Amino acid sequence: MSLSYHVPKEDDEPMLGHLARFIEVNNDVPKFRMPDQPLTEQAASSIIRSELRLDGNPDLNLASFVTTEVDDACLHLMMKNLNKNLVDTSQYAHSNEIQDRCINILANLFHAPSTEEGSAVGTATVGSSEAIMLGGLALKWRWRAKQAAKHGKKIEEITTRCNLIFSAAVHVSVLKLCRYFDIDVRMIPLEEDSYTLNIDQVIAQCDENTCGVLAILGTTLTGEFEDIKRLNGALLKLKHDKRLDIPIHVDGASGAMIAPFVFPEIEWDFRLEQVRSINTSGHKYGLVLPGLGWVIWRGKEDLPEDLIFHVNYLGIDEPTFNLNFSRSAANVIAQYYQFLRLGMDGYQRIMQISINNATYLADSLASIGDDLFLIRSQNDRPSLPMVAFSLNPGKKLQFNETVLVQRLKECGWIIPAYTLAANANHITVCRIVVRETFTRNIASILLEDIRLVLIRLANEYGHRELADLLQMSDKNKHHQHRRSKQHDDKVKSHTDKSKHKQTVHIIC
Ligand SMILES: Cc1ncc(COP(=O)(O)O)c(C=O)c1O
Repeated sequence: MSLSYHVPKEDDEPMLGHLARFIEVNNDVPKFRMPDQPLTEQAASSIIRSELRLDGNPDLNLASFVTTEVDDACLHLMMKNLNKNLVDTSQYAHSNEIQDRCINILANLFHAPSTEEGSAVGTATVGSSEAIMLGGLALKWRWRAKQAAKHGKKIEEITTRCNLIFSAAVHVSVLKLCRYFDIDVRMIPLEEDSYTLNIDQVIAQCDENTCGVLAILGTTLTGEFEDIKRLNGALLKLKHDKRLDIPIHVDGASGAMIAPFVFPEIEWDFRLEQVRSINTSGHKYGLVLPGLGWVIWRGKEDLPEDLIFHVNYLGIDEPTFNLNFSRSAANVIAQYYQFLRLGMDGYQRIMQISINNATYLADSLASIGDDLFLIRSQNDRPSLPMVAFSLNPGKKLQFNETVLVQRLKECGWIIPAYTLAANANHITVCRIVVRETFTRNIASILLEDIRLVLIRLANEYGHRELADLLQMSDKNKHHQHRRSKQHDDKVKSHTDKSKHKQTVHIIC
């Protein structure tokens, strides 16, 4: 029996003593203006820690793709380097060298055409959102320069707006890019049973003002990979037939740190001619704490020179192409640490385990209560390790997904319920993101909590038969271990067959 709210972390324990001593101070500290007098370090930190204890446990936050844990050596490196400002290349030349190495490692991973060793083009950002803004700006600038050349005008004389094409499954950061930087939105709706980019519709929407198509490697809604290879083929045909050369930006916020390790045979990156830039989040499956993102361009010609500013405030010429100027070097250093520490093999193992655990979770959910859930994610095809599921409308239940996740929240599990985008926005899904910290054991505890919550809901809402059915499945629990083993064998044989490269399988 689970339904357990998590216990405080070990390092929270000693503070109870401190807390008691500072309760009086705490009561007097104003909330919305600075206290008149300084507090002691202990008093200030106790007050803050006592309140932060009420935050959710990041490990039980199954809504988020963001990394919540790194090893002690990584944490130590971060702490030691928090005080370095990455933009100050003269002072922190070695931190900048590390940033360059990460950019080259990623460019390599994404098959950027090999030029001179160490000459890859890209930058670190706060996250994928900033990276998408920079990628989008480069598309807009290139489009404007091409239009100017085509019509024999100066760049500033190009006053028409360009448009960007993408599916309705995009993350809000893409909509922000368009609104903040005056780009027309050409959004392709989803369909009742298809939640990724419709490529025929993309081609129908392309015109001479299209600055690019944004394709997602792992959508936020269902984790599916959009078919970037097919998109590339269709755009090449368009280039050939209509002389429209339309580049692709890949939003690989999560997927770009999964596909190279687990699905190396899928072509989605710079192997495809029209792919000009790729963003990813270091703080998602890059396995670094927030906030770190990356944007990588195919080559120098894809990042227009006049987007880069050169300043000398800090003593030497510093080229800068970011939305923010100052930022700590700590996350970039942590990323380099993870690259060295884990290597290709380490990333491959971690991502494969997460994929296996997501498949296990999806299979197990699908077997609860006689098709009670519909699985909306695609765990039998390359996709992110996440499970998106809905209550089966055919069951005519009196409670919905929102009620279900609210009840699970009472047990400490943070699982969002949200609607898909137009034209599939009548479908509500719950999402469980599987990350490194989500082990098979945690999956089993969660599954048991879901079953128990469902029994309560079924009883409360008068679904007696369902309650009995779910109760019965408790008696079958001793089969669970066997099912988990069978599941692993199934995943193993599937991945063995579909891989060119030999894969190490770890069962956790
Ligand atoms: C597909 C996709 N793109 C972009 C983003 C934004 O990423 P970040 O939070 O790193 O800014 C997300 C966040 O989840 C995402 O899922």
